[in-house]
Parts: sequence; structure tokens; C-alpha cells
Amino acid sequence: MDLLNSPPRAARDVTDAPVSICPAGERFPLPQAEDYARELIRLQELVREQRALGREIVVVMGVGFVGAIMAAVVADSVDKKTGKPGKFVIAMQRPSARSYWKIPYLQRGLPPVQSEDPEVEEIIRRCVLGKQTLSATFSYDALGLADVVVVDVQCDYVKDKLGDMRVGRADIAALEESFKVIGEKIQPHCLVLIETTVPPGTTEYIAYPILQRCFETRGLVHPAAIDDGRSLQSEPPIAQSAIYNLQSEIQIPPPSSSADHSPFRIPHSAFPLPLLAHSYERVMPGRNYVASVRDFWRVCSGVNATARERVVRFLSEVLNVEQYPLTVMDRPIASETCKIVENSYRATILAFMDEWSRFAERHGVDITKVIQGIKVRPTHSNIMFPGPGIGGYCLPKDGALGQWGIRNLLGDEELSFPITTTAININDARGVHAAELCCDALTAMGRPIAGARILICGASYREDVGDTRYSGSELIARRLAELAAAISVHDPYVDHWHELEHQDTYPAAGQSRARFFRNQEGVTEVRVQPDLAAALRGADAVVLAVRHKHYLDLDPTWVVAQVGAPCAIVDCFGILSDDLICRYLQLGCVVKGLGRGHINGITRSVSSSSIP
Ligand SMILES: NC(=O)c1ccc[n+]([C@@H]2O[C@H](COP(=O)([O-])OP(=O)(O)OC[C@H]3O[C@@H](n4cnc5c(N)ncnc54)[C@H](O)[C@@H]3O)[C@@H](O)[C@H]2O)c1
Repeated sequence: MDLLNSPPRAARDVTDAPVSICPAGERFPLPQAEDYARELIRLQELVREQRALGREIVVVMGVGFVGAIMAAVVADSVDKKTGKPGKFVIAMQRPSARSYWKIPYLQRGLPPVQSEDPEVEEIIRRCVLGKQTLSATFSYDALGLADVVVVDVQCDYVKDKLGDMRVGRADIAALEESFKVIGEKIQPHCLVLIETTVPPGTTEYIAYPILQRCFETRGLVHPAAIDDGRSLQSEPPIAQSAIYNLQSEIQIPPPSSSADHSPFRIPHSAFPLPLLAHSYERVMPGRNYVASVRDFWRVCSGVNATARERVVRFLSEVLNVEQYPLTVMDRPIASETCKIVENSYRATILAFMDEWSRFAERHGVDITKVIQGIKVRPTHSNIMFPGPGIGGYCLPKDGALGQWGIRNLLGDEELSFPITTTAININDARGVHAAELCCDALTAMGRPIAGARILICGASYREDVGDTRYSGSELIARRLAELAAAISVHDPYVDHWHELEHQDTYPAAGQSRARFFRNQEGVTEVRVQPDLAAALRGADAVVLAVRHKHYLDLDPTWVVAQVGAPCAIVDCFGILSDDLICRYLQLGCVVKGLGRGHINGITRSVSSSSIP
């Protein structure tokens, strides 16, 4: 079930109030104006109690794939000396029709994300209902109560052309809006930690000036003044326990260079300086979802020494830095660059394999065996097969975000990043080739593509997760729909394929990949089928698009029996062993596979052995 990818559903309830509908169908009325005052009182009361227990207040802004789990990890952390919880977390989510339901979900101790990792449900239930260190809210007023704000909202890159990422732009307006709200609400002692993947320069050149301006407009005074007994001019006084004690006992790793070569200069100001930091997430939704946030290496940096010290201390208190030490960068732009380079590197390895996968397909080679052969060499152990395209939220956009920032935030028009650009373009279009292979297989069976019934097994972007964002499967479906095939889909982790069902509004109006193809009207009728046996019935072709565990050991005899006749089988992800390929062929199927040119040889030997 892909809970987070719920579409904007601007429905209304019987009283005509707008509601947010969760993927399971429950309707949650959106908060009304009068609810905000009540919510603020609830939050203030909670915060008072938690401060009395000596806990720091952490607001996580954006309860998505990253924020939901980060909030839980922080709420589950304990003081490493006393063993008692040291943080109280308020997960803050804007009350949009698309996402508001996540707040009542969290308040019930239910995760707003689904995954194969059993720890997701456990940690959220434990923190909300057991330890009571996690609450959720729709109100930005929570920001004014925070000692730390962790920003986990999205920053998209919109592409205007398929396979040409340069024609597009970063959708940074929503992020700027978030910084503005933060600047308008937070106390000056509050550390703002940006975890969102952002174009290099965002923390220093966008977030910092926005916060600084807000502080000036609010007429705030330096936090030091609070120690003298003077209160903030426009905010209620904060509890003394909230003022951060900078006498750190944590060993702060120094930045890689102590010399300050930064062109970024914090201006002298009578106003408090925003404490801004950047540390990106490396979360992997999947079997080790929670551990990928808590038990994994982090890179971080702050805009000045205090911010750097604060972020190191905060991350050291909530993450397993003993086993996974932090890397502290000189400046946020370096930390931001790390994330962009890290993901561009991965996108590049995958794109590189596209050309060798195509070679293998044409010249009788099985690319999966080539990869296995190379992988044993430790220096090459991260070589990977790209499947039918590189999806997920991050790899298709991060290199593009980086380039956009370098041009538009840093003003550098000269650098062109040809490798990163080519890699993303190749990855973005690979799914179209998978659809062509499906046509070839049908042709070999003597069936036309127009009107063929094609079952796509797997809608998500990778195995054993329900995240369908930018999946290769979507491109396969769209290209086949363009060729007038009748598409159906099965995915054990996805209830609704919103990219197809709600293509007019999802991921946003005018941004569906439908706009790159003809003949897309009908795909809104496609529904994810829960029962594989039923989904297989009568299929002309079965496209194994994702390596979900449910598809790895499918018995060919069973599959063909459900279909009711031999069909075309297309393996997009190195799913089928030679033995399984052989059995499908013996059952009269035609088999094709991305990068699996050796299937032609197996086909010949099966045909010759079947000649009496
Ligand atoms: N998903 C991943 O696997 C992953 C991995 C590493 C890094 N990241 C990065 O983390 C960031 C978040 O990604 P995600 O997958 O969690 O995105 P997401 O879309 O699942 O979640 C973002 C959430 O923020 C909320 N939001 C947006 N604006 C808001 C505002 N002003 N106030 C409060 N809430 C707001 C949205 O409603 C949504 O619930 C992105 O920059 C992404 O690139 C994601």
C-alpha cells in the first residue's frame, strides 16, 4: 500500500467541509480556523510538560518518507548517559487535502508509510502510545515552541521534456515558503536543520537571508539578552531549560579544514543570527528503513561555528554515531554538494550499464552474469543492473537540482556537467526500451501490440517497496498504452497507482509524465489488482518489471495455467534464472529480457530439442 503517494483528493464531507482521505478510504475533515487556537493550547501544554521533564522540543516539518521516520528515530532516542528520553518530537505536516490524514494517523500510533521493515510500525507505536515522546500537528505554531526544527519537506525538479533534463526547473518556491514560515515563528535559539535535498547554496544563499530578514522584521534580540532576564520583543518568554547549553561534552569532529575560504560571510547584525545547518538523509525505504536513518553515516555542516556545534550535538544525541561517525563539512554548500554528487554518481553507474545491457541483448550475452562476474572484484562491487529505468524520488532529480542551483543560485553558466546530464537522460528514457521488448515478444508470438492484454508485474521503482514515484514501470505502461495495448497491473505493495489513476493532478497539475505520450486518456481506468492469479488470466504478455520477492520464484507451469495459454514473458530486472526461462520456453511462451541476449540461444536449444 503506497500510503504517502496519495493523490490530492479535494473531497468534501456531508457537511460540505473539505476532507483529506487516506488511502484506506477514511475521511478526515481538514482543520478549520477555530481549530488552530485549540491546537496551540494543546501544544503549549504538551511542551510545558515535556520541558519539565528536561526534554528538548524537536519539530520535524514534513511527514513524508523521510520525515515520518526521522521523527520516530528522534522520539525514540534516549540520553546516552541516563537512558531516559531526552527529546519530545512534534511531527508537523501542512493540512493539505493530500497529506492531512497523516496527522491523525500518527496520533493513533499508525505509520503514514508502509514498508517491509517491521520496525516502522513498532517504533511509531512505541513513541506515540508507549513512551509518548511523539505527537503530530497541522499547526505551524509548533515551530515557535521548538529548540530544533528538522526540515524534511520536498524540493522537486520539474522536467519539461522526456530524456532531456536540461529543459526544466527546480520547484523551489514551496521550500522558500517553508523557510519564511520558520523565520516568522521560531525562537532565535532554535537550530534549523535542513535535511531536504537542495541545490548547492540553498542553505547559505536562500534559507539564511530569508530567516535573517524575518528576524529583523520581528525585531528579535540576541538570545544572550534572554539570559539577562529580558524577554523577546514579540514572542512569549521561553523556559530557561530551552536555552541551549553550549558547554558540550560531545567530541565535535573538526571540519575538514579550519581555514575559512568561504565567500559566505555572516553579516554583522544587531539581530540574532539564524542557527542553520544542513545534513542530508540517506534513507532507504525497504527492509532496513528505520536503520537506514538511525544506523548510518551522516554528513553535516552549519553556517557558523555555533550552528555546526549544535548540529553535531543534535545528531550525536539521536543517531548511532558511535558506530557510524559523522563527517563534518566546512560549509553547508559542501554538505549539499555531497548529496548531489552521491546520487549523481549512482545515477551514472546505472546509466553506464544501459549501453552494455543493450549490447548484451543484441549479441547473445546475459548481462546479469557479466555483472555477477565483475561484482566479485571488491573495487567494482557496486556495479548494478538498471532494470527498466531508474526511479524513486531522488536519482532522477538530484543531479538536475544540482545543476539548476549552480546556474541559478551561484550564477555559474560555464559548467555543463555532461556526464550527469547524460546519465539522467538515459535513465529517464530506459523504460521505453522495455516496452519495445514487449512488442518484440508479442510479434514473435504472432500477436499485434494494439489490443494486446499486457500485465505489468510491479509498479514501484524498486523491489519490496510501495513507492511508485518516477518508476520505470510507469514509462512501460505509458508507451504500451500509446501503442493501444490494454494495460493491467499487479503490485503487492501498491493499492493505487496514482501516477496513472490521477494523472491530471498527480504529482501536480500538468506534471504527469502522461504529457510525453499520446493516447493516455484510458490509463486512468487502470486499477492495481490484488490477486496475481486473477490478474494473469487471459494475458497476452506478462512484464516482470520489479524484483519484488513475490515474483522471484513464480513457477512457470502455474503462471501459464493462470494465463490459460502460452504468452509472452518479458523480464526487465534479471528475475528469471536460465532454468525458469527454459521452462517457460518449453511451455510454448516467448521470453525476452532486458540485457539478456543469451535467451535467443536457450530458445534455439529448446526448439531443436523439441523437434522429434
Ligand atoms: N524518499 C527517499 O527515499 C529519500 C531519500 C533521501 C533523501 N530524500 C529527500 O528528502 C526530502 C523529503 O523527501 P520525501 O520522500 O520524504 O518527500 P515526501 O513528498 O514523501 O514528503 C514531504 C512531506 O512534506 C510535506 N510538506 C511540504 N511542504 C510543507 C510545509 N510547508 N510544511 C509542512 N509540511 C510540508 C508534504 O506534504 C509531504 O508530506 C526530499 O528532499 C528528498 O529528496 C528522500
